[in-house]
Amino acid sequence: MRTPRSMLKAAALATLVLTAGACTETPPTNGGDNCAPSSRNDEIRLGLAPACEGCHLTGNKPFFASLTAFENGLAYDERYVKRGDPDNSPLIQLLEGTAPGSYPQMPPGQPYDELVASGRVKLTIEQVKAWIRELPPPPERLESPDPEAFSVRRLSAEEMVVSLMEQLGLTLEDFVSTSDPNWRNKEYVVNGGKLFVWPGDWAPGISRQYVSDSRSVERFDALGGGNSLVYRKRDVSFGPSAAQTLVQMSQAWCARAVDKKGNTAVLRYVTLADTSSKNPDAVQKNLRTLYLRMLGQPPSEAEAKELYERVYVPLEAQSTRIAWIGVCASLIRHPLWITY
Ligand code: HEC
Repeated sequence: MRTPRSMLKAAALATLVLTAGACTETPPTNGGDNCAPSSRNDEIRLGLAPACEGCHLTGNKPFFASLTAFENGLAYDERYVKRGDPDNSPLIQLLEGTAPGSYPQMPPGQPYDELVASGRVKLTIEQVKAWIRELPPPPERLESPDPEAFSVRRLSAEEMVVSLMEQLGLTLEDFVSTSDPNWRNKEYVVNGGKLFVWPGDWAPGISRQYVSDSRSVERFDALGGGNSLVYRKRDVSFGPSAAQTLVQMSQAWCARAVDKKGNTAVLRYVTLADTSSKNPDAVQKNLRTLYLRMLGQPPSEAEAKELYERVYVPLEAQSTRIAWIGVCASLIRHPLWITY
């Protein structure tokens, strides 16, 4: 089931697992290991990261996703850093909690100095100021896009939860009982232990008090999700616990999608009464459509054949329901699904 493209992505993902995370885990303290910052700018990026990357690894301000992102988006953006002039640089005002915009302080709600005092962050505001004072001119590569730049990353846990719900035609109501008009304000009812996975800092369930099934949040943590309420940063690698959680989640959610009445997300061109002997064309068509829906590109002939012969047919011997759940879940574990 591997095209060269998916092999490439899988290989890239493997590298990601090995290298990402490790270097942002701890602020740089020595120059001897392979996590040593690659430049002065990188030193500052890694120094700020523990305080910032929880919210700025992805999204519309992914300053801490890479050195390039840091330089392009923050260090050499005049709106935030005025080269040579720390006192007029909004970045410093944000750290000091005196910025004029709608967000006076970064991180929101906690003075940066306190993070330094508590030892969570080592880089002081003075050091950031000194860096701005001596900030070297932008590296040349900022001017032209780098075709070699690493452009594959794993989906974040948030993206996994949101895109999977959408792709499988599921809504919150499939997991929690939202029909009670007061459901947001009280401990909500899980609709029968359906392997709900949900961020600990999103509504519904923004504080533990509302989450009647704490495993929902624990699973999200295991997927590598961060939690800004407790300053836990996202795990950008894709380790065994994330993989294991995704396996369970893919099985359970695909089953929900197949069993949900009137849901055509998985069963678009077939019903559970169609089998490969009775209606082979419909089965083939549905298989290809599902592949396209989940992975965003049509399968090659070889991939479609492999999915059919190695996943669908053996499982169909048990039931068409199990066969479609199996096909659906195997697509979610595909390297193309996990990466972005
Ligand atoms: C708890 C989440 C969180 C943390 C931690 C955090 N930020 Fe932010 N940051 C936000 C949000 C939310 C916004 C505003 C929404 C947006 O523009 O994406 C923002 C916006 C910004 C902006 C743009 C401000 C503007 O007015 O345009 C900068 C610069 C920034 N953050 C830098 C940082 C830095 C540096 C750190 C670490 C010292 C940090 N942030 C830590 C959530 C966070």
